[in-house]
Amino acid sequence: MAQLSQPAQNCVAQDEIQQQLVAGLLAAHAHTSPKYLYDVLGSRLFAAICELPEYYPTRTEAAIFALHAQQIAAAVGPDAILIDLGAGNCSKAARLFPSLRPKQYVAVDISVQFLEEAVSALKQQFPQIEMTCLGMDFSSELELPATLGMDRRQFFYPGSSIGNFAPLEALMFLRRIRKGIGSSDGGGLLIGVDLIKDKAILNPAYDDSLGVTAAFNLNLLHHVNRLLDADFRPKDWRHRAFYNSEQHRIEMHLEARKELTVHWQNGGLRRFGKGERIHTESSYKYTREGFVDMLQQAGFGAVQTWCDPNNWFMVCHAQVA
Ligand code: AVI
Repeated sequence: MAQLSQPAQNCVAQDEIQQQLVAGLLAAHAHTSPKYLYDVLGSRLFAAICELPEYYPTRTEAAIFALHAQQIAAAVGPDAILIDLGAGNCSKAARLFPSLRPKQYVAVDISVQFLEEAVSALKQQFPQIEMTCLGMDFSSELELPATLGMDRRQFFYPGSSIGNFAPLEALMFLRRIRKGIGSSDGGGLLIGVDLIKDKAILNPAYDDSLGVTAAFNLNLLHHVNRLLDADFRPKDWRHRAFYNSEQHRIEMHLEARKELTVHWQNGGLRRFGKGERIHTESSYKYTREGFVDMLQQAGFGAVQTWCDPNNWFMVCHAQVA
């Protein structure tokens, strides 16, 4: 199995991360990037969220893939180079291998060590597929190694992770994928997108009755404490998540339970009033037409879409123009 780059964390300068975090914490409306939700515990809590009855996206997307496996495989075509962005434990792609029959699988994620374990287990199961791991923070750059073939590059971006970008950033990200496919025939993008729906479905999906999403959100404070040598106390904060229907997004915040001061390295500090919030994540929801339009603005051509019977979630395949 080839490993094409070092872990991205080693490449991104630590002080750049710290400066970015401090700038967000000191902004008029304090905010942090959603990527800080995913330390080791955060990734495990997210895996638990995917099992919750209220969190419909994971199982709804899986049902769409299962029900429309043949049509999706026909759209992608056999013998593709399947490039899985944010592969994690590679389980979503692995479930599609029998129908998609790629010739090569490229698992991309921020942590290459985690990928290697998952990919070496997969290699036993699918020895006919060439497998490669690529460590990269692909949210800001998408530099694929020159050694990777250009023919039939099919990007895979499931799970509605595109919703965690603001719409303009999402468009730029789709353009980077489009550029990564190049001009060869048979390239494309297979992507999962969460659709606009009643807030009675959306709100509990991000504020579940067991409090798993609350733990996921509050755990960000432990992560920030380690990154910044800060003194956030999770028990001083409460999880808030709600659908903002004007912006078509779920917003996740951490809200101060009382007036408090947080300190971090080099004498940095911020006072928070009771009820003041840190915006930790947005999860944008789309209409079918709105997202197809965005794919076309990003330079893709024909788009095929598949939805569940409630129209809660959509899987799209976009071909190069
Ligand atoms: C990873 N991402 C698509 C999830 C979402 O639904 O936006 C992250 C998440 N945040 C809270 N629950 C799940």
